[in-house]
Amino acid sequence: MRKGYITFFTGAGVSAESGIPTFRGKEGLWRRYNPVDLATPEAFFRNPSLVWEFYNERRCNIAEAEPNRAHLLIAEAEKVFPLVSLITQNVDGLHQRAGSRNVIELHGNIWKVKCLSCGKEEMNFETPFNEIPPRCKDCDGLLRPGVVWFGESLPYEALELAYDIAKRSKVFIVVGTSCQVFPAAQLPFIAKEKGAEIIEINPEETPVSEIADMSIRKRATKGMEEVFEYLKEKYLS
Ligand code: OAD
Repeated sequence: MRKGYITFFTGAGVSAESGIPTFRGKEGLWRRYNPVDLATPEAFFRNPSLVWEFYNERRCNIAEAEPNRAHLLIAEAEKVFPLVSLITQNVDGLHQRAGSRNVIELHGNIWKVKCLSCGKEEMNFETPFNEIPPRCKDCDGLLRPGVVWFGESLPYEALELAYDIAKRSKVFIVVGTSCQVFPAAQLPFIAKEKGAEIIEINPEETPVSEIADMSIRKRATKGMEEVFEYLKEKYLS
């Protein structure tokens, strides 16, 4: 899967209209909770139940959510335009549920669990968990969520692929991310340096706004409708 003409790069804002809170901003999760207590390996080893309570609640919230029009249009773009890639920082799996294939997940997936004893990794859709912290069905070891926590490395292959795609993008569309978390936040800048046209969809200004060729100050659903029309003109007319 080595693509790279039209690239979507998404963050929590793309799922906001599905009712999933973002991390920063007024209603953001990191306003209510301290990531140091909930999203670091140290926090997990200190209190796995507390961390799992947080992820259990998020999983329940996500399970009830539906992909919105922005997710659907990104999935549609993959079918309509040549060489479309999707890189996401989201762990909610809504892009996949909207029909996107080959989603590059930089921060893991909240539906994945990993056993800390036997190392087995699998998808697990139990909501809510019967037992917290959940345990491995094979060896009874402690499970952890398959997401990337602060202080951890991003999955190597996904990150390399994302860099490669960013470098080869002709149009790089940044949807609903504050672009504050590295190394993911570098991607639009790498794409720009290699000559990509940068389009940003975000109601708020972000560090990407400075390098964006087009900033659409709208929510993801409305903004994606505009971008979809723009791409149709550019690629299909
Ligand atoms: P943030 O919460 O940092 O940023 C969300 C962005 O979405 C903000 O810039 C908002 O202005 C924008 N936004 C809000 N509502 C929107 C809407 N309806 N349409 C479009 N944009 C909207 O989320 P991320 O940038 O995704 O990492 O955060 C990056 C990483 O920080 C996350 O992956 C997570 C977090 O800590 C890990 O968990 C490792």
